[in-house]
Amino acid sequence: MLAELSSALIAEVERAAKLLGAKQHICILTGAGISAESGIPTFRDKQTGLWENYGAEDLATPEAFTRDPKLVWSWYQWRRRVVADKKPNPAHDALAQWQYHTQSSGQKVTLITQNVDDLHEQAGSTVTHLHGHLWRNRCSQCEIPYQNKSKGSYSSADSMDYSEALISCPHCDGYIRPDIVWFGEALPVEAWETAEEAAANCEVFISIGTSSLVYPAAGLAQLAKENGAEIIEINTNPTPNTIVDITLAEKAGMVMPLLIQRITAL
Ligand code: APR
Repeated sequence: MLAELSSALIAEVERAAKLLGAKQHICILTGAGISAESGIPTFRDKQTGLWENYGAEDLATPEAFTRDPKLVWSWYQWRRRVVADKKPNPAHDALAQWQYHTQSSGQKVTLITQNVDDLHEQAGSTVTHLHGHLWRNRCSQCEIPYQNKSKGSYSSADSMDYSEALISCPHCDGYIRPDIVWFGEALPVEAWETAEEAAANCEVFISIGTSSLVYPAAGLAQLAKENGAEIIEINTNPTPNTIVDITLAEKAGMVMPLLIQRITAL
């Protein structure tokens, strides 16, 4: 793997590892890019197949669901089928390994994700989800979580019924929707508080695989910087962002195992 990375990049990884090894409070924000190597298309990738004429931004909104609930529900059921068999990649595994290592090192590593998949959890990480969960549903009217009773637990791929038929809420007859934060909707209060607190108090903020376009999550790096943190970005196509101190312009699945190996060896 090392042979595939340039010596300049390896030097930057060493610099990042040294910085991280010397600090106690780390906040990490992941986006769709960290799951790309697991085979999950990112948001701003062009959609494929049946959905190639739609933009994610046109479907992931409360207005779209009000206008055409069947269309939005079908899209999510399709996305669920795409994601169902996907597994964590070396970037997820490395982060989980780091979190495990901190139990003895005493570092505090808070992992925040914008992703709605559960690949961080599958890898063994503790993670805060800012944008909800792909495997959960709730009522679009009364907000009560919807449990697919015939399939047991309501928060894993195994519990899903992938039918595209709309489901009505047993309590109020509203339509059931994915428990995901759509454009224009507020973030879950507790998750946001965790993220803000971790970003404001960290010494290093690591942004992995996010285009940093969608607020408020995109503002977390700025908040960290304003409070004195150094910023590391890992992105195949780094964002035009002037607040970043160290840029690792490579696939997260290539860089993260190396970075974490260096940190945990310190
Ligand atoms: N390793 C690292 N970065 C990668 C990789 C990879 N293997 N593959 C792609 N990337 C980068 C891309 O260059 C891009 O900057 O990941 C980023 C993915 O960006 P988006 O698709 O915009 O995903 P994200 O930033 O997570 O989107 C934020 O927008 O659609 C909403 O709510 C949705 O959570 C989502 C939010």
